[in-house]
Amino acid sequence: MSPRHFLDLGDAGPHAIAAMINDAIDRKAARAEWPKGKADADRPLEGRVLALVFEKNSTRTRVSFDIAMRQLGGTVLILEAGSSQLGRGETIADTARVLSRMVDAIMLRTDDHAKIEEMARHASVPVINGLTDRSHPCQIAADLLTVIEHGKALPGLEVAWFGDGNNVLHSILEAAGLMKFNVRIATPAGYEPNGEFVEMARAGGSTVILSQDAAAAARGADVIVTDTWISMGQADADEKRAAMEPYQVNSDLMATAKPDAIFLHCLPAHVGEEVSEDVFESGQSIVFDEAENRIHAQKSILLWSFGLLA
Ligand code: CP
Ligand code: NVA
Repeated sequence: MSPRHFLDLGDAGPHAIAAMINDAIDRKAARAEWPKGKADADRPLEGRVLALVFEKNSTRTRVSFDIAMRQLGGTVLILEAGSSQLGRGETIADTARVLSRMVDAIMLRTDDHAKIEEMARHASVPVINGLTDRSHPCQIAADLLTVIEHGKALPGLEVAWFGDGNNVLHSILEAAGLMKFNVRIATPAGYEPNGEFVEMARAGGSTVILSQDAAAAARGADVIVTDTWISMGQADADEKRAAMEPYQVNSDLMATAKPDAIFLHCLPAHVGEEVSEDVFESGQSIVFDEAENRIHAQKSILLWSFGLLA
């Protein structure tokens, strides 16, 4: 049987995503106040090892996968491209075949999405997308959990995105089509998301509005989201920063959204750029719940990948 790869949210589909969120809520509640390194009572991944392969920097993804595996009773090893043979040109295909003989699952953070597809083609163990230039599905699994935890049901939810049409937005769009929420997107001209993801959301029944008007996108929104203007691997151009400035999430923009709107940011944040300090530090900002939920959501992704969840 071919392994259950998690390259994008659609690999799991809406029913499995709902099951993952429910499982994450239950597991999180069952271990409230426990030391973070203590394993869950059932240790479902006892004896399993996950390789974390990084071709880009990471704090949250690295730590949350490590802690998630410990809590599930398993272990991890970390492979940095720069200090492994990947950095000297060993192919993804050979790396996939070697790691498949040595570990039980592989998480890869890389640039070109084609590389993770190549990894999945050649691996005989599950491959999980820890971010590519195209998408960041683990982040959005955590975001969905966070939104639900804060009392907001997904169907019909109005999510508004500001700034760069990047990998994180792509996964939000994929999630929108699967989980039936709507997305209003305000970006400068030329920085829209990939049309393929917009079509994916619309094909799933989601309403997607693309505009250059930040206030219009925020009006009546339930969730306000942004991300860094310059993603990893992108050129840091003054021209791009200038184009992004009108899309900063600040208190004027938040005042346009619903009074109980929440603010999400995958982090790392550049406070004073894509988000003002008063919004970032406000009660509406739940970015640290969101960061913590990377652990809980990824535990469910791991269980799904190992065939232990629907
Ligand atoms: N949000 C996120 O993926 O953070 P890291 O880059 O620190 O892993
Ligand atoms: N869009 C950002 C997300 C970082 C977690 C990047 O790709 O750098």
